[in-house]
Amino acid sequence: MSINLKNRNLLTLKDFTKEEILYLLDLAEDLKKKKKAGIFEKNMLNKNIALIFEKPSTRTRCSFTVACIDEGAHPEYLGKNDIQLGHKESVEDTARVLGRMFDGIEFRGFSQQVVEKLAEYSGVPVWNGLTDDDHPTQVLADFLTIREHLKRLENIKFVYIGDGRNNMSNALMIGCSKVGLDYTIISPKQLYPSKELVEQCSDFAKLSSGSITITDDIENGVKDADVIYTDVWCSMGEEDKSAERIKLLSPYQVNSKVMAATGKPQTIFMHCLPAVKEKEVTSEVFESSQSVVFDEAENRMHTIKAVMVASIRG
Ligand code: CP
Ligand code: NVA
Repeated sequence: MSINLKNRNLLTLKDFTKEEILYLLDLAEDLKKKKKAGIFEKNMLNKNIALIFEKPSTRTRCSFTVACIDEGAHPEYLGKNDIQLGHKESVEDTARVLGRMFDGIEFRGFSQQVVEKLAEYSGVPVWNGLTDDDHPTQVLADFLTIREHLKRLENIKFVYIGDGRNNMSNALMIGCSKVGLDYTIISPKQLYPSKELVEQCSDFAKLSSGSITITDDIENGVKDADVIYTDVWCSMGEEDKSAERIKLLSPYQVNSKVMAATGKPQTIFMHCLPAVKEKEVTSEVFESSQSVVFDEAENRMHTIKAVMVASIRG
C-alpha cells in the first residue's frame, strides 16, 4: 500500500493509521541518516513556514526551525505578543491571512479547537506543536527513539507514570493504541484520563492488538515494563496547582526503586523534557545509562522534519 501524506494536517495521531505513523518514522530515520552523512535534499525549497507559539518552547521551536532550514524553507517565529491571533483578530481571519502567505503552519498553544480552526480556515497543512490536550509530534520522536534503542515497536509494555490526564499522557495513549503497544498509565485516581478518550483509544487498541491499563498500583503497574515514561507534574498554564500536585504525585516519582521494580535491567527511561529533577524523576535515574532523554530530544527534529516534508514536499 503506498502512503501519501501530501497536504495532510497533524492535529492529533487519532487521524493517522498505524501504517501512516510507521511511514513517518521511516522517513524520519532516512532524513536523519542523510543529515548525519551531510546530505541535504532541500525537500522544502522556497517554502515559508509560520511557527505560532502561545506557550514557550525549546525543543519544538528549535526542531521546526532547524528542520526548515535544513530543507531549504524559511521559518517565521510568531510569538504570542507578535500577532493578533484570537485577541484583536479572530482565529478564522488570522488563519486565512497566514494561509495566503505561508505553505504550512505550526501551532503551540492552549486550545485544541484553535489548532483545528487554523487547519479548517488556512487551506495549508497545520501541525500541532502541543496543546492542553495533545502533543503528537513528541510521540513520533518517542517512537523513533524506542525503535532505535529496543530495535522494535511491537511487544512493548509502555508505562507512563504521573499526571495521567495531561497532554503527554493523552498523546501517548493515542499513539500506543494506534501502533499496538501495551500502554499502562500509573496515576492517582484524581488524575486518571477522561473516559471518553480511554474509550476512543480502546477502539484503536482493538484494531492494533494493543492494550490500555489504568491503575494507581505502582508495583504491579511497572512490572515487566520495557519503557518507563514520565512528565512534569504541572504542565504549562497549571503553575498554580503546584502544591496540590506535589502532594498527589510525590509517591509516583520515578526513582531507582521504580526502575528496579520492572524486573528488567534493560528498561529505558523516557521524558519529553523539560524535566523538574527530584520531583517527577530523580537525578540518578535521569543521568543513568537507562535514560534516553537526549536521544528523544534530538529525534524531535528528525521526526518534525519528516512530518513537514511528507505534507509539503516540493
Ligand atoms: N518536549 C517539548 O515539547 O519541549 P519544549 O516545550 O521545549 O518544546
Ligand atoms: N505536559 C507538559 C509537556 C511539555 C512538553 C506541558 O504541557 O507543559
